[in-house]
Amino acid sequence: MDDQAQIVIDGVTHTYRPAHGRAVLALSDVSLEVRAREFLALLGPSGCGKSTLLYLVGGFLPTEVGRILVEGRPVSAPGPDRGIVFQHFALFPWKTVRANVLYGLERQPLSRPEREQRAQAFIDLVGLGGFEESYPSQLSGGMRQRTALARTLAFDPSILLMDEPFGALDAQTRALMQTELLGIWRRTPKTVIFVTHDVQEAVYLADRVAVMSTRPGRIKTIVDTRFGDRNPSILRSKQFVEKVDEIWDLVRVEAIKAQEDTAP
Ligand SMILES: Nc1ncnc2c1ncn2[C@@H]1O[C@H](COP(=O)(O)OP(=O)(O)O)[C@@H](O)[C@H]1O
Ligand SMILES: [Mg+2]
Repeated sequence: MDDQAQIVIDGVTHTYRPAHGRAVLALSDVSLEVRAREFLALLGPSGCGKSTLLYLVGGFLPTEVGRILVEGRPVSAPGPDRGIVFQHFALFPWKTVRANVLYGLERQPLSRPEREQRAQAFIDLVGLGGFEESYPSQLSGGMRQRTALARTLAFDPSILLMDEPFGALDAQTRALMQTELLGIWRRTPKTVIFVTHDVQEAVYLADRVAVMSTRPGRIKTIVDTRFGDRNPSILRSKQFVEKVDEIWDLVRVEAIKAQEDTAP
């Protein structure tokens, strides 16, 4: 085992057992280690268990087979060390943008003005200045997702678990948010597990990309994707384009298998 690993996922299998209907084997014998301050992207076909894996690390689902350690301790519940940005943004519909972001700061040892200031800084960061008093129902999907991101970033967790956080954003906002996320990650180093279905985004943001196989999900391959400085100009470099192609091939094979599995 890697001594430096902050997150250790060891032989994790997860089965959903709905009250009605058949049991679903979502993950099978998944092992993965993530170092402190590493940015790891998780790619794989829809339904392969990416969200399930994040929920387990986040402590939102119990680990029944295998083990998950964070800083050497088994995960048993959600905690302030792990911030999660859900795929389907979980905002309080009855709270404004400001109140949603402040919620993440309630338990912090900060004075009220400090809290307000911090909330405002993150609202501005995600480009929602001017929408502080809006309610989620008044916002577009992308704006809701940015509110959720601001709320999670505001409480400064050492581990960020992000489930397709930019999936609902238009291309321009997405590029801005990627740059902001990298900036935040550099300024306040965090360990990030970032689920995406965008291969280019994964290669651009991550130090390593873990490709999962079709359901039941396993880790199929881990590819190193560090290219020195991340700046948008690398997107056009030969090295970058080749890496994206290489990973696309791995993902495509799994996506085709997933299609075949669901074919009648
Ligand atoms: N609460 C649940 N009950 C039963 N099956 C579920 C539940 N949540 C997810 N699944 C199934 O588990 C598998 C993995 O789901 P998920 O982790 O959401 O995959 P991904 O995020 O990679 O698309 C899918 O086949 C999905 O239908
Ligand atoms: Mg998912």
